[in-house]
Amino acid sequence: MNKEKVLSGIRPTGFVHLGNYFGAMRNWVLMQDEYDCFFCVVDWHSLTTHPDTKELKANVYRLMGELLAVGLDPEKCVLYVQSDVPEIAELYLYLNMLSYKGELEKTATFKDKVRQHPENVNAGLLTYPVLQAADILIHRAVKVPVGKDQEQHIEMTRNFGDRFNKRYSEVFPMPQAFSYDKSLVKIMSLDGTGKMSKSANQMATLYLADDDDLIRNKIKKAKTDSGPTEPNAVKPDFIENLFGLMKLVSTPDTTTRFEADFNNCVIRYGDMKKQLAEDMVNFMAPIREKAKAFAADRELIKKVIGIGRDKARASADATLQLVRKAVGV
Ligand code: ADP
Ligand code: NA
Repeated sequence: MNKEKVLSGIRPTGFVHLGNYFGAMRNWVLMQDEYDCFFCVVDWHSLTTHPDTKELKANVYRLMGELLAVGLDPEKCVLYVQSDVPEIAELYLYLNMLSYKGELEKTATFKDKVRQHPENVNAGLLTYPVLQAADILIHRAVKVPVGKDQEQHIEMTRNFGDRFNKRYSEVFPMPQAFSYDKSLVKIMSLDGTGKMSKSANQMATLYLADDDDLIRNKIKKAKTDSGPTEPNAVKPDFIENLFGLMKLVSTPDTTTRFEADFNNCVIRYGDMKKQLAEDMVNFMAPIREKAKAFAADRELIKKVIGIGRDKARASADATLQLVRKAVGV
């Protein structure tokens, strides 16, 4: 039986952080046995905000090493680099004719990026969701494991695919954002200022490459307050975020104990952070050490990228044949 197709990507714009890991990559690892998975280092996407490409190749290689280190297996999934698959660019071109300036300008991520980089509001930034739609639709993927921040983009992908199907003929299934968690994950920055991201405050971002003491130090500095003043209070979002992280790396007993302390107004955030830091260190250290080993093996990464490219192009070409026929070119 044909397995359902899955696509997700990550930009080679910096070090992988816990948001990437818990929002996306952890689900990728779980999905690779169950689905026909394509995971992509999206280097073209990085050009929209990172025009300087001196570090790009090195970043692609390091990121591939991190993907292998978290447990992605090139025998079970297709790991490739976006720019190795020119078929994506051709599909992007057709989809551009089916997307409208007004809807692209309203996209939340576009508005954020205009605020962050008013000096470089390029058309690539505007059409970012169109290129992402091409990434997904080129494999006719139906599940897209991503973090909460990507929800709107996946909805746009469905819109573009649906318009294509209606204007030409039925080529694309409708993809859905996916997570094994109850809902799509959003990890906040430890300073409580918003989503953890590659470009956020570095001392409030936990990177998979951080050493043990840096992890401890960052968690120690995480934003807290003077504690709840009434039993069973609603947690402020930065406290909820710490509990969320604890649920991901600590034992259920540990989390339950601190939850009870919170609900009884006897919680000591210093103790909670100490515990969280130790559990985080234990969780992250093995991934970091594996990533170091993979990063040192350039030949292996090169081989993985080559195998991925061939498989990804075969899948992309099959879709592109259908697309060209449908469009009539
Ligand atoms: P970044 O935002 O750090 O540049 P990418 O845009 O490359 O990361 O996103 C890669 C994946 O990581 C996407 O699926 C995205 O939803 C997920 N992701 C990024 N940051 C977070 C976060 N803070 N919480 C949950 N998921 C996240
Ligand atoms: Na698989």
